[in-house]
Amino acid sequence: MCGIVGIIGHEDAAPLIVEALKRLEYRGYDSAGVATLHDGQIDRRRAPGKLRNLSAVLAREPLPGIIGIGHTRWATHGAATENNAHPHASDRVAVVHNGIIENFRELREELTAKGHVFLTETDTEVTVHLVTDNLRAGMDPVAAAQAAVKRFEGAFALVIMFRGDEDLLIGARRGSPLAVGHGDGEMYFGSDAFALAPFTNRVTYLEEGDLAVLRRSGATIYDSADRIVTRPVAITQAGAALVDKGNHRHFMAKEIYEQPEVLGHTLVAYVNAVNESIALPGPAIDWKSVSRLTMVACGTSSIATNIAQYWFEQLARLPSGTDIASEFRYRDAVLTKGGLSLFVSQSGETADTLAALKHARAEGQIIASVVNVAESSMARESDAVFPTHAGPEIGVASTKAFTCQLGVLASLAIAAGRDRGALSREAEARLTRRLLEVPRLIGEALKQEAVIAAIAQEIAKARDVLFMGRGLAYPVAMEGALKLKEISYIHAEGYAAGELKHGPIALIDENVPVVVIAPHDALFEKTVSNMQEVMARGGKVVLISDRKGHELAGDKVWMRIEVPQCDPVFAPLVCAVPVQLLAYYTALAKGTDVDQPRNLAKSVTVE
Ligand code: M6R
Repeated sequence: MCGIVGIIGHEDAAPLIVEALKRLEYRGYDSAGVATLHDGQIDRRRAPGKLRNLSAVLAREPLPGIIGIGHTRWATHGAATENNAHPHASDRVAVVHNGIIENFRELREELTAKGHVFLTETDTEVTVHLVTDNLRAGMDPVAAAQAAVKRFEGAFALVIMFRGDEDLLIGARRGSPLAVGHGDGEMYFGSDAFALAPFTNRVTYLEEGDLAVLRRSGATIYDSADRIVTRPVAITQAGAALVDKGNHRHFMAKEIYEQPEVLGHTLVAYVNAVNESIALPGPAIDWKSVSRLTMVACGTSSIATNIAQYWFEQLARLPSGTDIASEFRYRDAVLTKGGLSLFVSQSGETADTLAALKHARAEGQIIASVVNVAESSMARESDAVFPTHAGPEIGVASTKAFTCQLGVLASLAIAAGRDRGALSREAEARLTRRLLEVPRLIGEALKQEAVIAAIAQEIAKARDVLFMGRGLAYPVAMEGALKLKEISYIHAEGYAAGELKHGPIALIDENVPVVVIAPHDALFEKTVSNMQEVMARGGKVVLISDRKGHELAGDKVWMRIEVPQCDPVFAPLVCAVPVQLLAYYTALAKGTDVDQPRNLAKSVTVE
């Protein structure tokens, strides 16, 4: 999703801005641009496609200037062309924007009637003309920005640069993230601390409705009522994480292989290994008095909540439900008194999940979140935060964040089960022991890489692929399908195995591979029956199971992936690995852009 950078410094800003934009590439984008002030005048360079295109333009036509703004654009309104790329500019200001100005049509009509000429198809361009209009009406830059921001509906983070003032950038946020970086006689804006890491580790996260005025001497921050406020300066760890691929060709591969380690780090924060018990960090949740658990998320994080629902019901006997955030926020769900709403997100910034969180808060729910970015908006808006310690996830396809989310959610479910009297002390100790074995078992599952790479050569020839599983393996099937779709562009669906005969089985023929996820658990025989139904219709089955499962599955299976035996409760974490690797190697076979698949953004900060 769009990335924003702003710099007031002492050396040429454009190369530094491009450097920072590279650190935002993981968010996904389809064009990029930079604007600087040179002799007080606004100048800009923009290019569709990857940042290397922008760098090529800058190499041909350098952009001098010690103040500048930059942007990576994920298109919402208008195609990914140079003309629609940010920064947008008038003769007075240049603006970069992340989010959607929902009332842009109305503002555009109003400003057109006043003589403003619109040159792009974007919603963002109204911000330029409205601020320009305010300046022409005699307002100073701060008043012009404040007045403009009050007229915008929707979600936005934006940074404005003003002709003739080489010591001023103004940024504002509502709904989309924006951080201020504090340097020594230099100041910065960035979509996140990660972008600012090459320049500073001192960061202020703007709050909802804040507007920040940056000068080399520092920042003045106004709240939504235009009162000057003090926001804390955090020392962030974002820069500590190396953004390289190690020995891997892609971030996604690196992140898949990091799973034993980062899941181990995550579990250490939730488990007392000596007592074999769960010790949750942060403020205690009174699980006994929670009337209902509502879990809300998007994408892969949502699939993690689907798995967690089984855990909370089975281990804690806690009435639980899951919702996709974009549906939940408008569904007018009935939320019970004493309910706990739990929001799960790698980024902690996903617009729909954040809006759902605010909705649940307004409905009087206790708010908890599971996030990978400890300083994210969701973390800051929650009563209780349960961090995953996956480290920065750069690949658009979520992998290590998912298994770490599962580690945290399993810990929460065990703690809830213990506190609600659904699990004995002995059961808690047994589950804790088994959970602690999972990082090692994931390491074992990773050894199937060569087998999976060979199977992927066949999967890459398919146009459609089905994934199926029962119980805890059903969400894993959905995750396998999502991973395959997003990075290999092969159409895939994940089904509950028992549901196949109610429709999808009509799709089965020898050209549609079916990936069956069936660890040897209580539902194994039933899944095998469904698998037989597929094979009886010519379907080619790739079976993911443990040794016992493979022994019992018969010899008609097309191809096999063996995962280590583990406690069925935690099988989703182990079975996640082969579906991730299958998607990865299929994408390699197809030659697609693994880390930045087309049309996708890492952090979806628009609705
Ligand atoms: O940052 P979040 O976990 O809130 O992101 C949610 C989804 O956008 C994300 O999981 C997406 O589905 C991934 N690309 C899946 O691999």
